[in-house]
Amino acid sequence: MESAKILIVDDEAQIRNALAELFENQGYEVRAAENAMRAMELLREMPFDVVVTDLKMPKVGGLELLQFVKAQDSSVEVIIITGYGTIPSAIQAMKEGASDYLIKPVRLDELSARVESCVARRVLFREKRRLSRMVTLVDIGRAITSKLDMDELCEKILDTLVASLGAQQGSLMLLDGPDLILQAHRGLSSEVKRGMRVPMEGSIAGWVIAQKKPLLLNGTACDEKLRKAMHRTDIATSLSVPLIVQDRVSGVLNANRLPGSPRFVEEDKDFAVVLASQVASALENASLFAESNARAEELARVNEELRDIYNQLIQSEKMSSLGLMASTVAHDINNPLSVIMGHAQLLLMRKEKNEAEEKPVRAILNQAERIDRLVRSLKEYARKSEGAHVPTAISKCLENALLLTEKHLSANSVEVILEVDRDLPRIMGDGNKLEQVCMNVIQNAAQAMSDGGTLRIRASGNGTGPDGRSTGIVVRFEDNGPGIPEDTLDRIFEPFFTTKGPEEGTGLGLSICKRIVEEHGGRLDVESEAGVGTAFSLWLPTDENG
Ligand SMILES: Nc1ncnc2c1ncn2[C@@H]1O[C@H](COP(=O)(O)OP(=O)(O)OP(=O)(O)O)[C@@H](O)[C@H]1O
Ligand SMILES: [Mg+2]
Repeated sequence: MESAKILIVDDEAQIRNALAELFENQGYEVRAAENAMRAMELLREMPFDVVVTDLKMPKVGGLELLQFVKAQDSSVEVIIITGYGTIPSAIQAMKEGASDYLIKPVRLDELSARVESCVARRVLFREKRRLSRMVTLVDIGRAITSKLDMDELCEKILDTLVASLGAQQGSLMLLDGPDLILQAHRGLSSEVKRGMRVPMEGSIAGWVIAQKKPLLLNGTACDEKLRKAMHRTDIATSLSVPLIVQDRVSGVLNANRLPGSPRFVEEDKDFAVVLASQVASALENASLFAESNARAEELARVNEELRDIYNQLIQSEKMSSLGLMASTVAHDINNPLSVIMGHAQLLLMRKEKNEAEEKPVRAILNQAERIDRLVRSLKEYARKSEGAHVPTAISKCLENALLLTEKHLSANSVEVILEVDRDLPRIMGDGNKLEQVCMNVIQNAAQAMSDGGTLRIRASGNGTGPDGRSTGIVVRFEDNGPGIPEDTLDRIFEPFFTTKGPEEGTGLGLSICKRIVEEHGGRLDVESEAGVGTAFSLWLPTDENG
């Protein structure tokens, strides 16, 4: 350890010099002051381990000097030298934290022994503080490696800084562009808020960052700009250290003590520097972690999108192979089916009726017709739209579709309300196909409302397309039927998905509709709420490129 520093304060030059010589000979670093004012000056300039002071001095006495010393650093040892007449003051001094007192005339060997034990205490005190700070550093090292949440980390660092330095105020700021952002703070005024921006220019933190150097301020500031920034009477002593990783400054740690508290010393600064170096990389890791987290989320999103696209591809692949199979099967089935149906019809047309025979023949015919319907749908499904796209009025398609489904609608007591914008623009399309779409949707609604209901069909222009830019027309088919349960809603466009009995549906209707609509560059969407009703929206582009 470097030699202990002793300050001797006595207005009598002879005593002063004798003591200085004594302690110098013993290997201490000694300064001497002729009065308390000068002693205070020296104390501001450098830290001392032991102060030996006369109690009775002109102007400012030893007691006041003692108070000054303790306010700066309560661990500094002070030995009071007093005459017989001032013993009560000596007792007072002991109460105020003096380590020892000696009565004049002082015996040098006695004083030397007292100073020696004071120095030993100082060494012990320092060692203890160093050890406890080391433990703190190990602790925080452990804590920060397990914490990757930036905010939590900042709070933890600041708690450690403030507690270890015995500071009443503290802050942690991180660089963000040209400014500093306040990440965490302790003991500052209620106006100070987390996330606040602190300009670099003219602030102590800014100076520390620019200089990449720690700064310990005890009311005196070397730099002119700093002196202005430091003009704060509410702070007695402040310590600011930059956070540096690989020569890059990322922020600053600040600690303040309020008036009446001992000032920061070099050792405090050294501790803060080690703490800062330890946390700087942890903070950098945390911010990298946050960044990589954001990337991972982005990646997950892209992955999801890719999976959707993949599923769509699989679906369209399925569709096209299904289409191919459908057209082959339909062709192969059609011929034998015609024969079966023809014979069944002939049997039924026979003059001599045989009740016992007629029933099964009817059943054969019914089932054969069912196969025929299925085959037709399959063929339809397999067939690409071949009709030319010509200017088409959707109102016409709707009217025709309603005409063709009239039987179904009235059988189920479904009331239809048709509202078509008067100047609805024509669209480019295949009228027959679009009619088929409308028919299917209307028929579905009619079938869904087997106990009656209302189907409102509204066709309007100026509909915005799914890309938010293209314009087109919208036809909304709203029924107040039973609705579609949530778990089947996204299956209704799948080929062969049906909730109807074999007599009623093949499950190909909506998948054919969707294909036709997409061939027109449009969209067919569904919204449904169980118990409320279902709405199909058919959007078809009116713009030429749509
Ligand atoms: N308006 C609606 N209300 C309630 N459910 C509906 C409605 N429209 C469609 N669905 C449901 O969607 C399923 C699929 O309809 P889709 O038109 O594709 O086939 P389908 O009507 O069952 O058979 P097909 O059209 O071949 O006669 C239907 O079985 C039904 O469950
Ligand atoms: Mg249908």
